[in-house]
Amino acid sequence: AEVSMETIVALCKRRGFIFQSSEIYGGLNGFFDYGPLGVELKKNIRDCWWNDMVRRREDIVGIESSIIMHPKVWEASGHVAGFTDPLVDCKVSKQRFRADQLFFSPVVIDGKTAGYVSALESENTAAELQAAAETFKRKKALQGALAPVEPRDMTEARPEEIPQIPSPATGEPGSLTPPRAFNMMFETYVGALRDASAVAYLRPETAQGMFVDFKNVVDTGRVKLPFGIAQTGKSFRNEITPRNFIFRSREFEQMEMEYFIHEDADWEKCHKEWIEWCRRWLISIGLPESHLSLYDHPKAKLAFYSRGTTDIMYKYPFGVQELWGIAARGAYDLTQHANASGKPQEIFDEATRKKFVPHVIEPAVGVDRIFLAVLCSAYAEEQVADEKGKAETRTVLRLSPRIAPVKVAVLPLLKNKEHLVARAQELYKKVKRKYTAFYDESGAIGRRYRRQDEIGTPWCVTIDFDTIEKDGTFTLRDRDTMQQKRISEPELFAMLDEQVW
Ligand code: GAP
Repeated sequence: AEVSMETIVALCKRRGFIFQSSEIYGGLNGFFDYGPLGVELKKNIRDCWWNDMVRRREDIVGIESSIIMHPKVWEASGHVAGFTDPLVDCKVSKQRFRADQLFFSPVVIDGKTAGYVSALESENTAAELQAAAETFKRKKALQGALAPVEPRDMTEARPEEIPQIPSPATGEPGSLTPPRAFNMMFETYVGALRDASAVAYLRPETAQGMFVDFKNVVDTGRVKLPFGIAQTGKSFRNEITPRNFIFRSREFEQMEMEYFIHEDADWEKCHKEWIEWCRRWLISIGLPESHLSLYDHPKAKLAFYSRGTTDIMYKYPFGVQELWGIAARGAYDLTQHANASGKPQEIFDEATRKKFVPHVIEPAVGVDRIFLAVLCSAYAEEQVADEKGKAETRTVLRLSPRIAPVKVAVLPLLKNKEHLVARAQELYKKVKRKYTAFYDESGAIGRRYRRQDEIGTPWCVTIDFDTIEKDGTFTLRDRDTMQQKRISEPELFAMLDEQVW
């Protein structure tokens, strides 16, 4: 069975993966803190990406640009004018909603529109919308055949349809304002003055850093087309409706890469290759292929400069949603910055002896969204037998060893046997130099295994009497199969080297 969001949120709090930000003050909507295990898991996701995207490739370099950049960056990029979401106000409940996250549908009875129903996309399914239409028909005592309800997003609503839409919060008709554009950038002031000349923005994406530093990277001479510039870091968006835990928050972390190609290069081929690279990478950190799908943005809805955008979608407990966007952006961004700054953003082509502005393919993903997908797919509850053969439920996170927050737990069989504890401590300290390890001596061994299962530790090593009295080997217990075998210290390190990469 698919795991529920309540279960994931409860596990995150119980075991210290994620807390509400400023919880003792009641929290702040759209902001989260990562606890001791969460920060490790998140770092592992980011490090895997960095290793595979930057360090293990020859054609991609990394940068780290500042979070607050010159405000002209955001004028040139189009964010000041156009980084907006359609906002609707509910006049009755005083709540605000993103219009494109509100389903609305005409209720058609015997071919005639009798009214409209609406619901929140992230919290209601199409079936619930259909049920609402049926309730509407019954309440109004209308007769005739009810047509199937097709969810449409509110941004498509014609003005005359809007006043009739009952608010999802109150069910009152006529309570929503028409959608209007709401800019999502957080503003701040730089320096001691608080006037318009001091306004700056917290970056809403990391991508502009790569465009603005493009010439610096090219001129320092390490790169030749095609090549990429990557960075990871925090981005900020004043989302109208932060929802679904860390899926859509107001402060989040992105991992983006701009892959620059020749203006005459086959961009479609390159775009396809990057989509496949990203899909494979998600599978390599443990996401099930069955939960991944592709969504091609319809040409009509693309920004004018965009040649094509494909999203890798993930089947979250609340629906199939965007995880990773791979966009073909042409020469738009570099050209915009060249025009706005007066500094050409060109490359010299030795073959044709001509200068040109490279085109770009941009894979952009959120770390927090990967984190959530990873937890949802890893979570399982199983019926197993305890040491005495009694049935019990075990909670296990089947995290890939690549990203598991703790790789090995080292456990002395008994805590009151000095030589077992001493050997366990020795091994623990040795493992810890290279891998995250956890030492636990309290409670029955079965309980200790369960505690590790729940946080996704792939292996437990138990130091027992045979370790001391016989050949020095330990018991290695595998999280997924729960099988145990004897293993020597060199074998343990060889296995870790192979599995954690
Ligand atoms: N430079 C392109 C860009 O930023 P985007 O689709 O707006 O594109 C890229 O964002 C990725 O960042 C998304 O696919 C998603 O994974 C993540 N993301 C965007 N907004 C987010 C939010 N409010 N909370 C968490 N992650 C978010």
